Amino acid sequence: MLEKHNEEMTLQDILDLSYMGKVLNETLRMYPVVPNLKRKSTKTYNIPDTNLTIEKDQCIRISVLGIHYDEKIYPRPEVFDPERFSPENVEARHECSYLPFGLGLEQCIAKNFAQVVSRVCLVKLLSQFRVEPSKNTPRQIEYDPTRTVLYPKGSLPIHFVKREAFY
Ligand code: HEM
Repeated sequence: MLEKHNEEMTLQDILDLSYMGKVLNETLRMYPVVPNLKRKSTKTYNIPDTNLTIEKDQCIRISVLGIHYDEKIYPRPEVFDPERFSPENVEARHECSYLPFGLGLEQCIAKNFAQVVSRVCLVKLLSQFRVEPSKNTPRQIEYDPTRTVLYPKGSLPIHFVKREAFY
C-alpha cells in the first residue's frame, strides 16, 4: 500500500486494509480496554429463565469481557482468530456480542476515528519494525486490579526489530 502511493496513505487505502481490521477487532475482543459498561434500566425487566429482576432506574454493569469470552458466542474464546471477524461471521452474530466501543446512544464518540488512527499507527510502525515476543513477554496476561480499564499488571516487554527493507 505504501509503495503504491509513494509512502502516502489515503483514507480509502486505510479502510481497504481488511485483514488488519479483523486483527484489530479480534484484539479488542480479547482485550477490551473498557471491560464493562454502565447503564441505567429504563423499565423493569425479568431476565428470562432466571428469578432475577432488574428494577426500573437500577444501575447495572454489563460485562464486556464476559460476553467476549462466552464460548456459545465465540468458540474457544482464548484462541486469537481474526477470521471471527469475516463479514459472514459478523453477520451471523447478534450486534450485542461485540462491545469494545459500547453500543447505542452512549457508545464511544470516537469509534470510527479510533479505528482509523489505530490502522495508521500500525502501518507506520510495522513498515519500520517487526514486533516479537522477548523471553520476558508473558504468554498469559494478568490484569492490574487497581485500574478501571483493562491494563496489564507489571510491564509487558516486547522486542521491536528494525526491518532492513520491507518492500
Ligand atoms: C481503541 C480505542 C477506544 C476504545 C476501545 C474506546 C471505548 C469506549 C467505550 C467502551 C466507551 C463507553 C461506551 C458505552 O458506554 O456504550 C467510550 C466512550 C467514550 N469515548 Fe472511547 N474508546 C476509544 C477511543 C476513543 C478516543 C480516541 C476518543 C477521543 C478522541 C474517545 C472518546 C470517548 C468519549 C468522549 C466517550 C463518552 C461518550 C458518551 O458518554 O457519550 N474514545 N469509549
